Amino acid sequence: MSDVRGDDPLFGPFLAIQRQFPGIPLLSYYDADFFAYSRDAAWPQEWDVPALARLASQVAPSTVVDVGCSDGRILWHLRRRGIGAHHIGLDTSVAARASFEERFAGESGVHFRHLDVTAADGPAVEADLAVMGSVTVNSFRTHRDLDRLLGFLHGVLRPGGHAAFLVYQDHVPGLFRELGRAMDAVPFRDADGNRRLIWRGIDFAPERDNDLRQNYFIQYDDDRFPGVLGLVRERVWTTSEVLAAVGGHGFDLVAQDIAVVDDGGAEGWPCDALLLRRTPRPPQGGTRT
Ligand SMILES: C[S@@+](CC[C@H](N)C(=O)[O-])C[C@H]1O[C@@H](n2cnc3c(N)ncnc32)[C@H](O)[C@@H]1O
Repeated sequence: MSDVRGDDPLFGPFLAIQRQFPGIPLLSYYDADFFAYSRDAAWPQEWDVPALARLASQVAPSTVVDVGCSDGRILWHLRRRGIGAHHIGLDTSVAARASFEERFAGESGVHFRHLDVTAADGPAVEADLAVMGSVTVNSFRTHRDLDRLLGFLHGVLRPGGHAAFLVYQDHVPGLFRELGRAMDAVPFRDADGNRRLIWRGIDFAPERDNDLRQNYFIQYDDDRFPGVLGLVRERVWTTSEVLAAVGGHGFDLVAQDIAVVDDGGAEGWPCDALLLRRTPRPPQGGTRT
C-alpha cells in the first residue's frame, strides 16, 4: 500500500498542533484512540446495506469476503439476511480485529484476517463474493493502489465470482469542493468511559487528484498531553473512473444499484453500488502501472 500519510497529511489547526508539539502521535483514524469514537459513529450505519444486500442476493454466494471489513458491520447484516454460509473479514486495523471478534462472539462460520490487500503476497482466501461497505474504495488512494485492489479482488474470487461495492457518482467531487474546509468538535466517551471532545476537519483538493484529508485531534490532559492526532487519507473515486479501470482487471459490470449516504458531511450524496462479475483476466492486466 502506498504510504497513507503521503505528503502533507495535516492542515490548518491540526498542522499547527503538530508544529507546536512535534512529538505528538499521528495515528490512523481506524486504530487506537480513534476507534472508540468511530465505533459509535460507524456501527449504527446502515445506508449502504440494502443496496449491497440486493446485489449480493442476486448471486447467492457461499463464501463472502469483506475487504476493509472494520468491525464486520456488512458481514453482520448479510448474515442476518441469510446471504452466504462462510464469512471472512479482511482489514489492516488492529482495533478492527478486537471489534470484529466482539461483534461475532459465539458465532461460527465467520473469521477475521489481518491483511493489507495491496501487499504483494496475494490472496490468502477464496470467495464467491467480495463486498466493500461504505465507500471503502476511497481508501485506495493512488491509481496503483486501485490497480492492486482490483487485482486482489480478481485473485480472491473463484471463477464466475462477483464483487459488490459502492463508489461516489460522478458529480460528487464537486460537492466535496463546495464543502470547503469544514471543522467541528464532537463529544464522545473514550475507551475508559471518559467524556472527551474530538476535533474534526476535512479538506478536499481536486487539484491534487481528488485528495481527501480528514484530520482529527483528541486532547488529553494526563500524561499523554497534549493528545493524539488522527488521519484518514483518501482519494475520491467516481463511478466512471472505477468502471474505466475494472475491465482491464477482468471484471464486467453486471448490475447496478444506488445508495445515499445518510450521515456525516456527505449526507444525501449518492453512490452507485456496482456488481462486477469476474471474467478471465485480460492479457495486459491493469490500467496503469
Ligand atoms: C471507510 S472504512 C470502512 C469500514 C467498513 N468497510 C464499513 O463499511 O463499515 C475503510 C476500512 O478499510 C481498511 N483498509 C484500508 N486499506 C486497507 C488495505 N489496504 N487492506 C485491508 N484493509 C484496508 C481500514 O482499516 C478501514 O477499516
